[in-house]
Amino acid sequence: MKIVNTLADLRTALAPFQRPAFVATMGNLHDGHIALVNQARPLGDVTVASIFVNRLQFAPHEDFDTYPRTWEADCDKLRAAGCDVLFAPRETDLYPEPQTYKVHPPAELADILEGHFRPGFFVGVSTVVMKLFMCVFAGKPGGVAMFGKKDYQQQMIIKRMVKQFALPIEIVAGETLRAADGLALSSRNGYLSEQERTEAVQLSRALKTLGEAVKSGVAGKREQLEAGAMQTLAERGWKPDYLTVRRRADLLPPHAGDAAEPLVVLGAAKLGSTRLIDNLEI
Ligand code: PAF
Repeated sequence: MKIVNTLADLRTALAPFQRPAFVATMGNLHDGHIALVNQARPLGDVTVASIFVNRLQFAPHEDFDTYPRTWEADCDKLRAAGCDVLFAPRETDLYPEPQTYKVHPPAELADILEGHFRPGFFVGVSTVVMKLFMCVFAGKPGGVAMFGKKDYQQQMIIKRMVKQFALPIEIVAGETLRAADGLALSSRNGYLSEQERTEAVQLSRALKTLGEAVKSGVAGKREQLEAGAMQTLAERGWKPDYLTVRRRADLLPPHAGDAAEPLVVLGAAKLGSTRLIDNLEI
């Protein structure tokens, strides 16, 4: 695996190839990331991963400084997964001057759910992803980028960005990988104490229970069921931000007439000082 830091070195490494298959990460890689790399590999003629903890998507009170950085282990995992090129820019490589041009996704998609609780988050994500795409794919139409469904809203926003800017990149969504008890794999799971780790599965259980209740036809009571699910978690000591049922197409709440509409249940809640997110398509 070739490791490159600068845009010039990345372009040199990718020069012989036409169709990069790309996985963007912030490092601290787990099996979910590696599954994306494995899915990406057959889709292109060179497999590229990036590791970059993107300051732009962290609010000042969030965990940018303490975000787990596990460089050696990440390199080993990517090498073992058959990644060909690892792009690991320093901040000054990716942002040689303050990034004052930014991508602002539409409020109706980016200021709800995660965007409501993390204002500016999707501006930071969209901006860095657009920039990483320019680094990896410039002059190479026909490439593929994989994004995990664990960050459901993120992969939707990126898909729309690619469509609206007519970027010649195919976005493929990878399924969420879960631990044996059902907890969605996440870099932030590493923040959990042993006791919290045992409790953490309750988020996915609450989403499942909520999804089953909504599907079993109590549609008129959706808001009541959502409030009940939040209450259940709160009583166990969580601080839920949202547990909600949305349409997969646009993440808006389903209307009474939307019976056949594909839905997704999304949730975010804090357990101790760790904020976890998860979702379930129903
Ligand atoms: O999902 C992530 O790890 C990040 O949001 C991403 C897509 C790598 C952008 O920094």
